[in-house]
Amino acid sequence: MKKTISILPGDGIGPEVMEQTIRIIKKIENKFDHYFTLNHGYIGGAAFEKYGCHFPDTTLHVCKNSDAILFGSVGGPILESHSVKWKDCEKNSILALRKNFQFSSNIRPAKVYPELQDICPLKDSVIGENGIDIVIVRELLGDIYFGEHKSYIIDNIRKAHDISEYDEKQIEIVAHQSFKLAKLRKNKVTSVDKANVLDTSKLWRTILTEISKEYPDVTLEHMLVDNCAMQFFINPSQFDVLVTANLFGDILSDAAAAIPGSLGLMPSASFNVKGFALYEPSGGSAPQIAGKNIANPIAQILSFAMLLKQSFHLIEEANSIEQAVHSTLKAGYRTQDICLNKSKAITTSEITDKILSFI
Ligand code: IPM
Ligand code: MG
Repeated sequence: MKKTISILPGDGIGPEVMEQTIRIIKKIENKFDHYFTLNHGYIGGAAFEKYGCHFPDTTLHVCKNSDAILFGSVGGPILESHSVKWKDCEKNSILALRKNFQFSSNIRPAKVYPELQDICPLKDSVIGENGIDIVIVRELLGDIYFGEHKSYIIDNIRKAHDISEYDEKQIEIVAHQSFKLAKLRKNKVTSVDKANVLDTSKLWRTILTEISKEYPDVTLEHMLVDNCAMQFFINPSQFDVLVTANLFGDILSDAAAAIPGSLGLMPSASFNVKGFALYEPSGGSAPQIAGKNIANPIAQILSFAMLLKQSFHLIEEANSIEQAVHSTLKAGYRTQDICLNKSKAITTSEITDKILSFI
């Protein structure tokens, strides 16, 4: 198969985990006889250094001319967020990219890896016999992220507001996606909202209920977001597909990272209605550990496996990567984020060597 992939490493740990993922891409090409053209683009702070903006036209062009996008991470240290390089970096880069390609739904799987049960902070009795296997479907183009943001001063008082907005069409898209996904899994959708307070959530609940009629085999449950946050830690195995709004999805997907034990293990995929997609780790640029060759590359590598499966329908190839990750973890190789005995942790490139050896 011949395909073109946009490679956008970005900032922080992005470039180093992407470099390792490219080694995996090359291995898959050779082993399965595919040809992937990798077109690199600058994004975020890295783009700002070169072009003076966070999302240059050349990068947009690279993305438009590809079959899928593999994205690293963007953003700098919180303490430097007022500098020109980092100011509004995330908004101008990843949020602009999502908006530009209309990536409306974001899929974030969270499961317990049996090999890593020792680092999962949940007790065995909470994990239960069947383990935990949740897919979060996060709406990606609405909510407080894309409503008006404003800071102002009235009567010498500093004020700010961020407006949360949804229309029914936006909600319908993720509703259908969630029910379709649940049909391939355990036929259960939990819709998470704050309908006891927010109008956007009331609309959300109404639309989810309406769309559920088209999927009689799937059970729909509604849950308030505050309760959901607690349920993640007291009874996480009740969830199959969880669908929620942009901001709740952002927060809950980080919380769900406690289930595998690290954000460094969590891949994600963002789709538009035409099926074009961007794949990225759920975690951020982690500037505090960047450049040290200690970051966990697994989230980026598994994001590539998701790309193979979802965008190119290369199931065997994707499974071979996932299996290799499991074998590596089973053999006891760990980066520092998933290693209880930090002195035994191996580096970003070393764990990739191991994964490569199992493919
Ligand atoms: C994520 C990230 C982004 C988000 C940031 C970098 C803007 O946290 O993908 O979860 O909030 O969506
Ligand atoms: Mg986030």
